[in-house]
Amino acid sequence: MQTRLLQSILPSVATTDGAGVKLRRSIGQKPGLYLDPFLMLDAFGTEKPEDYIQGFPAHPHRGFETVTYMIEGHMRHEDHLGHVGDLGPGDVQWMTAGRGIIHSEMPMQTEGRMRGFQLWINLPNARKMDPPSYRDIDSSEIPVVECGEGSRIRVIAGYADGHKGRVQGPIARADTQPFFLDLELTREALCTQTIDPGHHVFVYLYEGTIEVGPQSQMQSVPIDSAGILGAGDRIEIKAGVNGARALLLAGHPLNEPIVQYGPFVMNTRAEIERAIQDYQSGQFANTNGEQTRKQPSPTL
Ligand code: FE2
Repeated sequence: MQTRLLQSILPSVATTDGAGVKLRRSIGQKPGLYLDPFLMLDAFGTEKPEDYIQGFPAHPHRGFETVTYMIEGHMRHEDHLGHVGDLGPGDVQWMTAGRGIIHSEMPMQTEGRMRGFQLWINLPNARKMDPPSYRDIDSSEIPVVECGEGSRIRVIAGYADGHKGRVQGPIARADTQPFFLDLELTREALCTQTIDPGHHVFVYLYEGTIEVGPQSQMQSVPIDSAGILGAGDRIEIKAGVNGARALLLAGHPLNEPIVQYGPFVMNTRAEIERAIQDYQSGQFANTNGEQTRKQPSPTL
């Protein structure tokens, strides 16, 4: 087995999105800065209501999936097809936008801490125009695996290897084969996972300190940064003296051209133009073939 080395570090940058929500963006912070199949990772975490209270009013998506993982706080999702979902602490919404969704994501709290992540995962060409679908996953449905000295892994997608064997999470897809693991590591704990050598892998550290790589060549990943791992079929992550919390994200690359215009991610410019045209003319996504309301230009 070959343990993956730390290949590069992508520090997150502070930015705002939606109606002024403050967040930190790593993957996707600049045009073209993807880690196929991942298009974007946003981390939000603040105790100041003014930093999140305006939320993300109605906006479209086409051509990819969004995964929202709440750690603290309460967010409500509503879309143009009538789907409503509440996300509380530990809950996940896995949304396959497919040919299109127009939705809002609004905080349901006026005080207290809001903390979590949103990950965008690309869809292959053959699946970009699928009808939109959801998985609202309650925190209680997410298996927890024990791994190394009292450490815990929440398995949202893919699988994790723990003391009692391999545990599968609630989300599995054949094309991008995503792994979405939330690691809570105790002091100096070592967590080892196996992974398909064909996957792209990164670790996002959001609390404490970690080192990754084979024992003799471990390297630190800075806080609020994505550590992108190189080739191999094993991952080793060691926490520092104060423990650590980190996301471990992996997926099979699609190796397709990516053309992005804000919330539309397609393979060609013509498909992007079609998405804008569909959105503006009210022909955007509807599983019943009904027209949606005419919309202004998408907020980018
Ligand atoms: Fe959205």
